[in-house]
Amino acid sequence: MTPPAEADWERLRKAAREAMSRAYAPYSGYPVGVAALVDDGRTVTGCNVENASYGLSLCAECGLVSQLQNTGGGRLTHFVCVDGNGRSLVPCGRCRQLLYEFGGPDLLLETPAGILPLSRMLPQAFGPDHLAQ
Ligand code: THU
Repeated sequence: MTPPAEADWERLRKAAREAMSRAYAPYSGYPVGVAALVDDGRTVTGCNVENASYGLSLCAECGLVSQLQNTGGGRLTHFVCVDGNGRSLVPCGRCRQLLYEFGGPDLLLETPAGILPLSRMLPQAFGPDHLAQ
């Protein structure tokens, strides 16, 4: 699939920032927003939702994959994560695994080090293929 034009990354960034503005992060004070393009052209987003029982807090990516599945499924192709200042942020390790399930190794991520495939952010990933072996 052809990567989107620069303007599309900007559009994804904007969607991630909008999602970040809706984060519920009263405990960490660290709002996060994410946005991704789906292979059918949809855009899905998410924000972190924390909990008084800290360990139950949901990362923004949890909301994103839930929205993906609940709006028709599909494959993630391009992904952006931003912090409370709207700057590019790397997804945490657990969330890389969540993204791998629905994007695989070729999912492109915008990171502070540039655009990278998920295979670079989560090398030798465990995934659905292993269960089929
Ligand atoms: N957080 C995310 O939402 N996604 C990430 O990939 C990194 C961390 C959230 C979890 C928590 O609510 C806050 O950032 C501080 O760790």
